[in-house]
Amino acid sequence: MTPFHLHNKTVLITGASSGIGKQTAIDIAGMGARVVLTARNKERLTETFQDLPEGDHQMIVADILIPEDRERLIAQLPQLDGVVNSAGVVNPFPIRFISQEKIDETLNINYEAPLLLMAGITKNKKLNKNASVVFMSSISGQHPHKGGVMYSSSKAAIESLSKVFALEHYHLGIRSNCISPAMVKTEMYDEAEKGMSKESMDKHIEQYPLGVGTPQDVSHAIIFLLSDASKWITGINLRLDGGYLLEAK
Ligand SMILES: NC(=O)c1ccc[n+]([C@@H]2O[C@H](COP(=O)([O-])OP(=O)(O)OC[C@H]3O[C@@H](n4cnc5c(N)ncnc54)[C@H](OP(=O)(O)O)[C@@H]3O)[C@@H](O)[C@H]2O)c1
Repeated sequence: MTPFHLHNKTVLITGASSGIGKQTAIDIAGMGARVVLTARNKERLTETFQDLPEGDHQMIVADILIPEDRERLIAQLPQLDGVVNSAGVVNPFPIRFISQEKIDETLNINYEAPLLLMAGITKNKKLNKNASVVFMSSISGQHPHKGGVMYSSSKAAIESLSKVFALEHYHLGIRSNCISPAMVKTEMYDEAEKGMSKESMDKHIEQYPLGVGTPQDVSHAIIFLLSDASKWITGINLRLDGGYLLEAK
C-alpha cells in the first residue's frame, strides 16, 4: 500500500485560522488525518473547521503565548502523530526602530511559543512513537532581507530548534523537519505588500521563475513530511521557492 497518505494519524496544526495553517488543516484532513486546529480567533478557526472533510476533528481556541491557554490546549490534546507549527507573524522594522516590545511581539510567537508548546507536548507524553513534527521557517532564515531582523532571526532560531528536536527524539522514531517557503499568497503576503511600493513588489515577484507560492504548494510538502513516505527524513530544511534562489541573490 502507498505510504503517501495520513490515515490513522492525528495531527495538531497551530495558526489554523488563516493562510498556510488553514489550507494545511483542510488538505491534511483530506488525506485521511484526524486534525486538531488551534488559533486565537474563534470565528476564523470555526470557518476552517467547517471547511474540513467529515471526521472526528477537534478545534481548540487558544493564544499559545499565554501559559494558561497553552496548558489548557496541551491538556485537551489527544495522542498525536504529527504537529504543524504554523502560527507566526512578520513585523518588519529597520534596526533603528527596534524596541524590546517589538522584539517580544515577534520572537515570542515565532520562536518561544512553538518551543514551549513542543516542550509541553513532549513532557506530557502526547507525541506517539514515529510522529513527525514540522516547523515553519522561511527563506529569510538563511537569506535575511532589510527590515527583517526579527523575522529572519526568529526563523534561523526555528531551524536550530527543529534540528535539536530531531536529535533529542530520534530514539523514539520521532522526526522533526523545517519548511522554508519564499513568498506565499496569504494575509502575511498582503501585510508585506503594504510595507512596499507596488513597483518593488512587482520587481520582487518577477524573480520567481515558477511564480509566487500558494498555500497549497506548502501544504503538499507538509503532507509529505507528515506521512510515512518521508520516514527516512529528519533534521532537514526543505526550501520551497518557485526557483527564486536558483540564481545567486
Ligand atoms: N506567507 C508567506 O509568504 C510565508 C513565507 C514563509 C514562511 N511563512 C511562515 O508560514 C507561517 C504561516 O504564515 P501565513 O502566511 O499562513 O500567516 P497568516 O495567514 O498571517 O496566519 C498566521 C496564523 O498565526 C496565528 N497566530 C498568530 N499569533 C498567534 C498566537 N499568539 N496564538 C495562536 N495563534 C497565533 C493566527 O491566528 P489568530 O490570529 O487566529 O490567532 C494565524 O492563524 C508563519 O510561521 C510564517 O512565518 C509564511
